[in-house]
Amino acid sequence: MKAGNLPLPAAPATPTTGVVASEPRLLGIADSRPATALENGQYRIWAEHFEQRTGILIHDHREPFVRRELERRLGELGLDFETYLQHLLQPASGVGEWRHLLDRLVIKETRFFRHRESHDFIREQVARRAARQGGERLDIWSLGCSTGEEAYSLALDALAGFETAGHAPEFAVIGTDISVSALREARTGVYPLNALGTADRQRLTRFMESIATSRFRLTAEVRRHVGFVADNLLDQRCGFFREGADIIFCQHLLVYFRRWRRRQALNFLARRLKPGGLLVVGPGECSDWQPGFLVRERHPDISAYRRPHPEGK
Ligand SMILES: C[S@@+](CC[C@H](N)C(=O)[O-])C[C@H]1O[C@@H](n2cnc3c(N)ncnc32)[C@H](O)[C@@H]1O
Repeated sequence: MKAGNLPLPAAPATPTTGVVASEPRLLGIADSRPATALENGQYRIWAEHFEQRTGILIHDHREPFVRRELERRLGELGLDFETYLQHLLQPASGVGEWRHLLDRLVIKETRFFRHRESHDFIREQVARRAARQGGERLDIWSLGCSTGEEAYSLALDALAGFETAGHAPEFAVIGTDISVSALREARTGVYPLNALGTADRQRLTRFMESIATSRFRLTAEVRRHVGFVADNLLDQRCGFFREGADIIFCQHLLVYFRRWRRRQALNFLARRLKPGGLLVVGPGECSDWQPGFLVRERHPDISAYRRPHPEGK
């Protein structure tokens, strides 16, 4: 039987926690059949395959978890490793299964205003730019946005920035991620109330509508500025911003890449900035990277780089 035509059962829906979906106890998947033990060589082939497709290097401490998940999946499907791998490589029919497994293995941990100093910085920068350039449209890219908290936080930063400058908000935030199920959750704009600390709850009150006792939805005023697109950073696309982005925000993603791949990704992102644009990464995520044509912002707590205007505006 050709691997592409395997009678694979539909991938069970991944529970949507919005936080650490990689935790085995959250996966809720029944062990229907005995697990198929992976040989070391097979595990290495798998880890390389995973890294080639996602950029994510599986560190030694995660090996037991990744092994367990993969073995469990083989057991559920009753397949041997080689047949399964062949199936995953099928351009059309392997896609659904790849997405499903990816969802089990990828770390999607996130929260609103995760790195506070970076969000304070964005708010200030938007206010300054709006004061200088009026309501000129601003394009913001939240890369590796997971379940959307980061993209909505950036929208809230931008709303606050435009308000400070006294201009009507004219901006779009596009969140991209490799995980299709994370994006599905992001699009709903619905989150558990306990995902917010007290300070954030106060900040968000104006933009929250209560939909159940323990959950809230961001108001249309925020949601109308935010969109989500499935995208793999390794494919080096940025079609959603034809002229590039004013702000590229990419935190807690590049840490999972090898150094050379991190630099390659950063060089690509640097080229996707509009003149005057800002690239904001997580602190310490690219300490050995300095592209010739970007200038590092002088700020003790954040890692941000600006593409200067050619005319030095
Ligand atoms: C740990 S979460 C970080 C979420 C958010 N940026 C934050 O800082 O809270 C990393 C996210 O990067 C995504 N990711 C991993 N590899 C990716 C790739 N090659 N392209 C796009 N997204 C990727 C994962 O699916 C995951 O949602």
